[in-house]
Amino acid sequence: MRNEFEIEIRRGLIGTELGSCQFFDPLPEFTKYMTTLDAPIIDVGAGAGQVTECLVDAGLKAVGIDMHRHMRPVYHVQMADGTDFPYPEDCVVMLCRPCHGAFAEQVIDQAIARKVSMVLYVGLERNVEDDLGDFLPRFKKVAIAVGLGGEAIWRMDLGKAHNRKDRRNHAVGVAGSSKRASRKAGAHA
Ligand SMILES: C[S@@+](CC[C@H](N)C(=O)[O-])C[C@H]1O[C@@H](n2cnc3c(N)ncnc32)[C@H](O)[C@@H]1O
Repeated sequence: MRNEFEIEIRRGLIGTELGSCQFFDPLPEFTKYMTTLDAPIIDVGAGAGQVTECLVDAGLKAVGIDMHRHMRPVYHVQMADGTDFPYPEDCVVMLCRPCHGAFAEQVIDQAIARKVSMVLYVGLERNVEDDLGDFLPRFKKVAIAVGLGGEAIWRMDLGKAHNRKDRRNHAVGVAGSSKRASRKAGAHA
């Protein structure tokens, strides 16, 4: 899945400007779930940084990275390619409403290579199968209705558990295995 040529091309695009849309608009249920985790969070494809800001405001360690500079940033976002980022071991890699195509799968490949503890996908039911591709069966839906658009959270554990001991077994939403719906092409983030 890792393609050195693609990575080289992306390097030339890091820091270029890209639009002003914000996709994931977190509800308190999102923060409630995230505060059950006990590891630094990397918000990959952070866009304007609104989700990173929400996590930091909730007292969590979080940083946002994005390849493109948002036209109206609300929080500091580091310019970097998420498919080639040196994720610290044991961190949580989070993708909120990622770009479609191979992006999410390439980030997950890199996260696995870097031995992160967990990957979170925050998005819409209609996109999850396309975005996560072959990784989907390894994810478990752990929370629903965490954003204004009706987003849910899917989680893949890779390393040791990082739930806070005092708040185990996530207070938010439904936990059930992801339903494999028909793969749709061309859906929006
Ligand atoms: C659909 S937007 C979502 C932004 C934000 N997470 C939100 O919910 O508002 C996807 C973001 O992924 C970023 N992105 C795309 N490819 C990337 C890459 N290889 N590395 C880092 N960010 C990337 C885009 O620049 C864009 O900001």
